[in-house]
Amino acid sequence: MTDGHTTLLGVDGRDGMSGPYGSRLLHGWYATGGAADLDEHLGRYGSPPLPRSANAADLLVRAVEDAGLTGRGGAAFPTGRKLRTVAGGKGTAVVVANGMESEPASRKDETLLDLAPHLVLDGAALAAAAVGADVAHLCLPRTRQGQADALREAVEERQRLGVDLVAVLVHELPHHYVSSEETSLVRWLNGGDARPLATPPRPFEKGVGRRPTLIDNVETLAHLALIARYGPGWFRSAGRPDAPGTTLVTLSGALRTPGVYEVPMGLTLGEVLDVAGGAAEPLGTLLLGGFFGNWLPVGQALHVPFTKQDLASLGAGPGAGVIVALPGRACGLAEAARVLGYLAAQSARQCGPCRLGLPAVAEDFADLAWGRPDTQVLRRLEGRVGLLAGRGACRHPDGASRFAATALRVFADDVRHHLSLGPCAGAGQEPVLPVPETPVPDEPEWR
Ligand SMILES: Cc1cc2nc3c(=O)[nH]c(=O)nc-3n(C[C@H](O)[C@H](O)[C@H](O)COP(=O)(O)O)c2cc1C
Ligand code: SF4
Repeated sequence: MTDGHTTLLGVDGRDGMSGPYGSRLLHGWYATGGAADLDEHLGRYGSPPLPRSANAADLLVRAVEDAGLTGRGGAAFPTGRKLRTVAGGKGTAVVVANGMESEPASRKDETLLDLAPHLVLDGAALAAAAVGADVAHLCLPRTRQGQADALREAVEERQRLGVDLVAVLVHELPHHYVSSEETSLVRWLNGGDARPLATPPRPFEKGVGRRPTLIDNVETLAHLALIARYGPGWFRSAGRPDAPGTTLVTLSGALRTPGVYEVPMGLTLGEVLDVAGGAAEPLGTLLLGGFFGNWLPVGQALHVPFTKQDLASLGAGPGAGVIVALPGRACGLAEAARVLGYLAAQSARQCGPCRLGLPAVAEDFADLAWGRPDTQVLRRLEGRVGLLAGRGACRHPDGASRFAATALRVFADDVRHHLSLGPCAGAGQEPVLPVPETPVPDEPEWR
């Protein structure tokens, strides 16, 4: 990535029909080097095989269950199980496609929506048919006006040609870190603020219009669109039996060709980084999963497969496919302090840990990174970080607390250096992590 924009796919030097690992969602891009319009999309895949009976809808849900597709929005929840629950709910269901991608280190959803918009729209239409929904909402951030306009045109074209059976509505929501959380989407679609709601009821029970609501990441829906066409066996022919299929990843930091790539599940972290040309300079640590993620020392991480199961043994997870490679010369404390300052400013300021705890942790981290801290700061930090998790209405403080805790652990040597000698040389360097610098007003716009 450069200047917050994606260097698309890092395809330099490669051509032909597929990416290095038999890309699926990005197949069209690799074939043509351009975004697929409706003609090209229908020429390549045909119309989406929409189920037109209850039995056919059930078969589609079963195909997704058998495929073992898991959500690509961060939590890797089994998509088939979610489809079945919503399909069995009381009342006509609603589908919400989450294209918000509030994670600053991620560009995969934006890229997918640019390059293969009709795969996502097919997925939304197919998911709607599978759960018996009469409408699908596609949620995008207000900052991507051009993309929202293009998608509205794409939807209109599909409606004119009768490709979809349900109404598909494109919305532009406020762009804050927590506005993409699923209850924020539901609250906004119900006429309120794009801020998380305390649950239960969960959206799958009572969501938009108090109806059973299926909320899926746009990448998840695009995979669903291919499973509906080619079946679970095909989906499982990439990846591992316990982690099937391919996944989009956003690779950034000190790599030769950072960008968005599609890789089969189960590659080791070292192999995934090689897809982006490998390290551009000696690496120190990796950040996995973005600003809610975990830091791992590179020596401990490279041989580990990039799957939820394997990373769990290190207390980490793939999140929404974000990997940032931090060079050894960078100061991890300064990087972490910037992220925590951003996360503190981005909370919805509704609950105690976000109003009080998170800003205090961010301030102490800044002191540790750039000030003249004493051991009191460290003791206070260790105590406060442990108090953040599990106390908010949403998982924002939990994510921030995990990020801060792993930073303190993995950068323990830097902590010692800063405590005894003050800020290291790396603390004043250009940031590696893409922390947005937009100031947050005291009263941010939530509607
Ligand atoms: C603070 C926060 C931000 C989130 N942001 C996103 C996001 O930008 N995109 C997304 O798909 N899911 C995001 N999620 C997860 C969603 O709440 C939801 O679980 C997801 O959209 C479900 O889709 P999936 O099952 O296909 O992964 C976020 C969760 C939290 C706690
Ligand atoms: S925990 Fe924080 S972000 Fe989540 S709802 Fe409460 S104030 Fe908002």
